[in-house]
Amino acid sequence: MTEPLKILVILGSVREGRMAEPVGKWVIEQAEARSELDCELVDLKDWDLPFYPFAHPPAQGNYKDPLQIRWAEKIASADGYILICPEYNHGPPAVLKNAFDFVYAEWNRKPVTYVGYGGNGAARSIELLTCVSRELQMAALEASVHIMGVWGKVKDGVFTGDDKDLRWLGHGFDELAWWGRALKAAR
Ligand SMILES: Cc1cc2nc3c(=O)[nH]c(=O)nc-3n(C[C@H](O)[C@H](O)[C@H](O)COP(=O)(O)O)c2cc1C
Repeated sequence: MTEPLKILVILGSVREGRMAEPVGKWVIEQAEARSELDCELVDLKDWDLPFYPFAHPPAQGNYKDPLQIRWAEKIASADGYILICPEYNHGPPAVLKNAFDFVYAEWNRKPVTYVGYGGNGAARSIELLTCVSRELQMAALEASVHIMGVWGKVKDGVFTGDDKDLRWLGHGFDELAWWGRALKAAR
């Protein structure tokens, strides 16, 4: 049996009462049935990254700050990513964009898919994130999940996806596994 791919599930909101947390936990739970994926939840609230303050652009790679080095190691440890993303004013939350901006090479040549929620299932936010991902030399997957009516699907802090959410997430996992394996071999 081949080794599972290491996938980081990154929560894109740090807001009090955020939907990102129950949605992210649901994604992790669903991934447990997929032996080819080894998912880890990454909470940007725990990381508390400052707005990019360093003199050198991350693409130059000369990281000196201990937190930047730790974030680089975390991102480097993965074969792919699932972003749990809401839509703030038709774009991704600044905290998520900043987490992308914080390092560079560690994202390169790896697949990323998106699980969005909110009006339009965060379609506009995800569309913008695909442009950002492309600049980071990632494979931004066509497969993404757009959860409608998220507020009605969370009870006592637990999100339950409907059949459509499950189908889309399953497709996202399939694609992430395919691209993850292909790009891991190529890297
Ligand atoms: C600053 C801000 C801007 C928002 N802008 C949008 C928006 O453009 N489109 C939308 O569908 N929902 C918007 N919303 C509502 C969010 O979809 C909703 O609050 C969602 O739960 C946010 O995700 P979170 O709870 O994980 O932070 C906005 C919410 C906030 C806090």
